[in-house]
Amino acid sequence: GHEHGMHEHGEHGVRTADSQASRSCEAIMAKAGKEPVREVQLTVAQQETKLDNGQTKQTWTFNGLTPGPEIRVTEGDRVRIVLKNADIKEGVTVHWHGIVLPCSQDGVAGVTQEAVKPGERFTYEFIANHPGTYWYHSHQASSVQVEKGLLGKLIIEPLTNGFDYDQEETILIQQLNGTMLMNGSTKGANIEASPGQMVRLRMINAANETETIRVNGAAYRIIAMDGHDLHEPEMLENYQFQVAAGQRYDLLLQMPRQGKVIVESGSGLRAALGSGSEPQPRSDYTLFSWTDYGTPDPRAPVENLTFDQSQTLELGQTLFIKSINGKSFHEIPSIVVKEGQRVKLAIANNGGGDHPFHLHGHIFQVLSRNGQPLSGSPVFLDTLATQEGETYEVYVKADNPGLWMMHCHNLMHASMGMSMMFNYE
Ligand code: C2O
Ligand code: CU
Repeated sequence: GHEHGMHEHGEHGVRTADSQASRSCEAIMAKAGKEPVREVQLTVAQQETKLDNGQTKQTWTFNGLTPGPEIRVTEGDRVRIVLKNADIKEGVTVHWHGIVLPCSQDGVAGVTQEAVKPGERFTYEFIANHPGTYWYHSHQASSVQVEKGLLGKLIIEPLTNGFDYDQEETILIQQLNGTMLMNGSTKGANIEASPGQMVRLRMINAANETETIRVNGAAYRIIAMDGHDLHEPEMLENYQFQVAAGQRYDLLLQMPRQGKVIVESGSGLRAALGSGSEPQPRSDYTLFSWTDYGTPDPRAPVENLTFDQSQTLELGQTLFIKSINGKSFHEIPSIVVKEGQRVKLAIANNGGGDHPFHLHGHIFQVLSRNGQPLSGSPVFLDTLATQEGETYEVYVKADNPGLWMMHCHNLMHASMGMSMMFNYE
């Protein structure tokens, strides 16, 4: 049918044979059960958006907004999103960043579907299996369309809560045609919170650069990365942490008895929680390291894993392209896996900037950084922050058949060649 057709002229000009594509990426939907159905309509359109600094931008929006409407569902829900394209002639899709879903619903133009043209619609459906903080964005010419505004928050609330809090808030950082915004504002966010309340703060970096985040006025714990809970995370005070492009960090903090908590980003955005006086400015922050944070979880042992295949990916810069193993997208051989395989990837950043490496349709576990096994909580990610000179090893269980993109989530880098495929045979 039209909705699941393949073609070869998408964002990445995928060279995978159509026959293989249609065999591996057809709609495999769980049969409808008793789960609640949550239906959302998303209409994309061109429009002028007036920012709160008085500037007017030519933007592309979901339901008239950038960021688009927050989609908030509960773990176990069947989520049905009807995407309609009003007038974007380049066509659009929606990719559900970080969500493990059937390949046919992954929203990658030219790989899992054709871009949706003006007047057309496409219905996405998936079960919200893993609670956490996610986001959505167009995956047709992403480096252009995300920058123009086609992105939004996606929160899956847990059925049973591992952490206690009175209130939760989500902060999304984006770059809209050159201007950094926090929750759509050039000034930042003001969040109401009462003294003593426990607040869960979900932070999404939807921009292309790593953001350094500083929290002043309260101690906090980082309770989740990329939507996945950390095990026994300890309290942090006077730490700064880095959220790479595409990543999410969830914080848990208690509001002080009086005064505000200030959350600042390296790009100059800030969120103020609570009311009253601001904490004393400070500059003596220690850099948080997530590879030794929290405690090991005996339920997720990795020491004795054996792997069915190992691959090395060197992310770097070769002449004018952003490359993987010296090649750019069209020349990079796909990683080909069989269902059930345990795959080890060594991912090295050889230069050309930060490369947050994102794998679609899977959650991987980080094994080591620069040869050192992780010594704290197990860390499960969909987007791995890498900086120049670093090498990470990650473990991917090949348990979701299909054709999946892997790419740097600096979307400029992805469009300059730092993209490849992770395919099931
Ligand atoms: Cu968030 Cu392939 O993308
Ligand atoms: Cu990159």
